[in-house]
Order: sequence, then C-alpha cells, then structure tokens
Amino acid sequence: MTDLEQQKADLLGAIANADADALEAIRVSALGKSGTITALLKTLGGMSPEERQDKAPAIQGLRAAVADAIADRKAALDGAALEAKLASEKLDMTLPVAAAAPGSVHPVSQVMDELAEIFADLGFAVATGPEIEDDWHNFSALNIPETHPARAMHDTFYFPVVEGEEHRMLLRTHTSPVQIRTMTKAKPPIRIIAPGRVYRSDSDATHTPMFHQIEGLVIDKGIHLGHLRWTLETFLKAFFEREDIVLRLRPSYFPFTEPSVEVDVGYSIEKGRRVIGGSEGWMEVLGSGMVHPKVIAACGLDPAEYQGFAFGTGVDRLAMLKYGMDDLRAFFDGDLRWLRHYGFRALDVPTLSGGVGA
Ligand code: PHE
Repeated sequence: MTDLEQQKADLLGAIANADADALEAIRVSALGKSGTITALLKTLGGMSPEERQDKAPAIQGLRAAVADAIADRKAALDGAALEAKLASEKLDMTLPVAAAAPGSVHPVSQVMDELAEIFADLGFAVATGPEIEDDWHNFSALNIPETHPARAMHDTFYFPVVEGEEHRMLLRTHTSPVQIRTMTKAKPPIRIIAPGRVYRSDSDATHTPMFHQIEGLVIDKGIHLGHLRWTLETFLKAFFEREDIVLRLRPSYFPFTEPSVEVDVGYSIEKGRRVIGGSEGWMEVLGSGMVHPKVIAACGLDPAEYQGFAFGTGVDRLAMLKYGMDDLRAFFDGDLRWLRHYGFRALDVPTLSGGVGA
C-alpha cells in the first residue's frame, strides 16, 4: 500500500468511529489550514508538470474522499442527535389531563351563552353597542326627551359636560340604545338580541351599580303583539327547560314602547322554595312592548311600513332565578368559593340539543 493509501485508510477508519468532537478534530488536522492533506496539496505547487500530473489525482482523490466521509459522518451524527431529542420530548397524548380545571365560567356568562343559543335558534343575531353612550341613543331617540321624568328614574352616571359637544356622554342605563344603533344601521327585517353591561347609581341586595341586561328587537312588516308573546313564551320555556311556564302580560309604561307590557312568569312552591313553573304566584321577569312609532321614525324608518317589538330583561336576575342564588352582590365579589360552587365548566357549552342549562 502506498503512503497515501495508508493515510486514507487510517483517516476513513477514524472518521467512521468518531463522535462529533472527534470528527471536528480530524477535519482540522486533515483539511484545516495546517492540516496534513492541506500540506500535501501545497506540495503540488513545487512539482514539475509531469510529476504533478502523476501525483495530483491521488492527493486530490484523498482530499475528496476524506471530505465526503466527514460530511457523511456529520449527517449521520446530526440525524441521530435529532432522533434522540425528539424521542426525549415525546408527549404521551393518552395520559389523562390534570384533574381539576383551575377556572370556571361565571353564571352571567353562562346565561348569556344560553340566551344567545336559544335566540340563534329563533333566527336572532347578537348585536352590541358601546357602554359609554350619548344621551341621544340612551334617551332622546328612545322617546325620552330631556324633560322626561324617566331620565331621573334611571339614576344615570353622567360624564362631565364638555364645552361644545352635541350630546352629553353617560354610562348606558339599559341595553335599549342598541335598538337605536341597530335600526339606524341595518335594513329591516331585523331580529337581534343585545346582551351587555349597564350602569345605574343604585346598590343593595338586589341592585348593583353595574349589572347585565339583554335586549331583544324585531322589526319587520306586520309584526304584532302575538309575535311578542310567542317569542317570549318560547324563550322562557327553553331557558327554564320546563313546558309548564305560564306568562302573565300586564299593561305597563315604557316611553319607547306602545303598548307596553310587563311580563310575569308563574311560580310554584316546592319544598318551601319558589320554583319557576305553574301559577301559584307571579314574578316579574321582563319589560317589553311594541316599538313606539316615534322610535322607529327617529331611526329613519317609516312607522307606517315597519312595526316591531322589543323586550329587555336582567341577565343577573335570570341567572338567580334559574340557578337559585339569592344575593346579587355575590355575583361581583369575585369570591373563589362562590365561583367554584356556582361556576360552570368551560367545556360545557350550552346547546339546545344537550340542554342549555347542562
Ligand atoms: N329598557 C327597559 C329597562 O331597562 C326594558 C325594556 C326594553 C322595556 C325593551 C321595553 C322594551 O327597564
């Protein structure tokens, strides 16, 4: 064997068994700036053309073979390292997840989801409006002019008067301004619900300065009180998951509806507790009525062509009635024990087929 062949055999042998560090050391000692093969290549410069022709193929062949062997070995080592890393990071997806989920869905969110699900089935979309409103949307357009006593009834949180502003800003006192925002934007037929936060300066066991309402609005041709009654009855039966829901419609007054109707739902006493269903007693649950022609006109629609109904109710109150809580203030205390007791599992999304209160 020639010297070069011996050198090649030695190097290839060492390369085949080298780990990453050894491989780099071999590369430097053979192919580096002062490496052995680099030195051999340099000798070609000092040879006669004939000698060079004779020696060059063997030296260059040695260089190419060693470089290829190093590259192959490096690729093999990298591949093995990646395999090892992937194997060590493998997740066993069949392992059970940690037992207790740390959070829960607040009853208010749960009830809003339930309502959205029920009304989606009836063809209602969900609409929203700003909580910081102006008094035109919150009052004037709803047929509550500045001098109207209903403005005082609402215990409104006003923002300071700003010089030159057209409308005074306030925290909306009900979700009814979403009626206006919807009618001024969308073309009838309109079927929306609008759940959200509302604010009134009031606080005791059944009132908090912030609470939740849900508004309903239907605008179309030929809508009458019968549609309102059917919609509310269908909704309340689905919500309380009982067929024996009895409604009582009482004449009432809201500036933005005419006629206005307050809706009571019947309850019975079971084991000393009030339970929705039957008609042993009555509980007020909703305000509603046919949208006042002035409101329809204020939104740029012709009240001779379009009619509709609207309703509004307290989401917190619905939650209390359905899930048996008796102090509204606890809703907003953020007490973890209360949330653990009354909260809902995040993955239990209400569906009509599965039972909205499941
Ligand atoms: N906005 C009324 C309230 O807050 C409820 C209501 C809504 C009444 C729609 C009639 C129609 O009390």
